[in-house]
Amino acid sequence: MSLLTFLITAGPTQEPLDPVRYLSNYSSGKMGYALARAAIKKGHKVILVSGPTSLSPPPGVKLIAVKTGLEMYRAVLKHFRKADVIIKTAAVADYRPEKILRQKIKKTGKPLFLKLIPNPDILKELGKKKRKNQLLVGFAAETQNGLHHARKKLMGKNCDWIVLNDVGKRGIGFGSDRNEVILIPRNGKPVPLRKASKEKIASQILKHLLKSQGHAH
Ligand code: CTP
Repeated sequence: MSLLTFLITAGPTQEPLDPVRYLSNYSSGKMGYALARAAIKKGHKVILVSGPTSLSPPPGVKLIAVKTGLEMYRAVLKHFRKADVIIKTAAVADYRPEKILRQKIKKTGKPLFLKLIPNPDILKELGKKKRKNQLLVGFAAETQNGLHHARKKLMGKNCDWIVLNDVGKRGIGFGSDRNEVILIPRNGKPVPLRKASKEKIASQILKHLLKSQGHAH
């Protein structure tokens, strides 16, 4: 079996607002960490770029801990050239506060308006830069019209696969230990994976990705 280098992103990002506050999301990082563990188990090398989570990194991974979307962007761009497979499970904040205030915002009793500016779309950037032999896998967190939106992301971000995660369903997705996903290849039919632990889903995802590349898994 040929050994591959995986670059996996996981978890949420935190976008600071002032010294005591940030904007973030409910991502737990569990899916990304499970994928990292599955790849390590098969003897591959893993670089895990992770936003803040409460999880311990699987032994053997090279962990790069980041907080913000911009930090994740820089870390991913620094390491992606050496990766054979790039899997982007991270829930990157699409926007960040325009200004990070140096002092805590005090309440005034009046409405407060925040100006948010777009974060770079890391996956889209990788889609432009990737080499032919690099496999680029995105995740799509959707609450409605999942297949439609996921296919749009697959093409728009030039991925090889997109993993559709229905985060609107109870008992799967964000924060949960279980998941149920549909793997959508660029060419070919979608592959639904039945509800199972994130560990099991991770090894099934890995199996399908590597098979598509002609690797024994
Ligand atoms: N992604 C990224 N950088 C961003 C936003 C998203 O790399 N700034 C990646 C995620 O890691 C994921 C994929 O893009 O692999 C899809 O993320 P998702 O949040 O589902 O979609 P968005 O592109 O943010 O679109 P929307 O929020 O409008 O659904």
